[in-house]
Amino acid sequence: MRYADKPLVEISGLSKSYGKHHVLNDLSLTLDPGIHALLGPNGAGKTTLVNILSTLIPYDSGSVRVLGLDPQRQRSQLQGLISLTGQYAAVDGALTGMENMLMMGQLFGLSRRDSKHRADDLLERFELTAASAKRVATYSGGMRRKLDIAASLIAGPQLIFLDEPTTGLDTRSRQALWDEINALAALGTSIFLTTQYLEEADVLAERIMVLHDGRIVADGTASQLKDRVGGSTIQVHDGAGHIIETLPTQGSAQEVAHALSALARQRPDVGITVRRPTLDEVFLELTGEPVTDQNDKQKENAPA
Ligand SMILES: Nc1ncnc2c1ncn2[C@@H]1O[C@H](COP(=O)(O)OP(=O)(O)O)[C@@H](O)[C@H]1O
Ligand SMILES: [Mg+2]
Repeated sequence: MRYADKPLVEISGLSKSYGKHHVLNDLSLTLDPGIHALLGPNGAGKTTLVNILSTLIPYDSGSVRVLGLDPQRQRSQLQGLISLTGQYAAVDGALTGMENMLMMGQLFGLSRRDSKHRADDLLERFELTAASAKRVATYSGGMRRKLDIAASLIAGPQLIFLDEPTTGLDTRSRQALWDEINALAALGTSIFLTTQYLEEADVLAERIMVLHDGRIVADGTASQLKDRVGGSTIQVHDGAGHIIETLPTQGSAQEVAHALSALARQRPDVGITVRRPTLDEVFLELTGEPVTDQNDKQKENAPA
């Protein structure tokens, strides 16, 4: 079966509520193959959307197609083409890395020989060969995460869902995982990842979608999103390199020069850096709210 002529994901008017709480609200979105990041604070509805797309939970209304298939009505057909690595690692601590891989291969109906072949290859790619005979309970968080992703790749999915793949990882493991995600994408696998880290979306994704109040409020490349906010920011720092002031500008040479000449007159000794807005600043501009935990907001609004 070929899906090359179909969009990767096609959603129109998707809604999903839990009781009175509208988590997804008339959401529409079309994605072509590639790396896509869904960005939003804790409680925004990222996992809900990923779980709908990856067949785990039903939706209330609207139309949803993933690789041309309806995740609700063509569930098992779609399950053979995608993989999901959840927010919490799903590997079994009592088994070794290799055993986990083989179990997953069996689950996807691969022969033992094919499973072993794929497992060797993936474990090597994720630098887990040396640890493959050790029980997963002895692995670090970063190693578990990598094994989790390696296991989800055993059947060679066309589309991989990664729900907050780097949450809770240290900087080094996070970087290693970013490298892996890029390597996967280079092999032609499409990726749909969720993240709370604006920086992560910026580094990884060709396209970034911002989820806010149950809808996609912005959608584009990191650079397009930054363009929507416009301009450049002048950072003023003291002798020790600490930022003591930030001056937003629209980014034209004239405006930047004007701001700088005023600064040069008043405080000739300070250092300056001119930079594009960060995605945090973009989020604030797009939603009118700083990046906060949506669950906290909900609790604040809830009657006592
Ligand atoms: N099974 C459920 N029952 C009731 N509320 C839920 C359920 N799953 C998620 N929610 C609520 O839906 C909102 C979105 O959750 P979620 O999709 O997990 O957000 P995110 O992954 O962006 O942190 C949250 O307020 C959460 O509490
Ligand atoms: Mg989540």
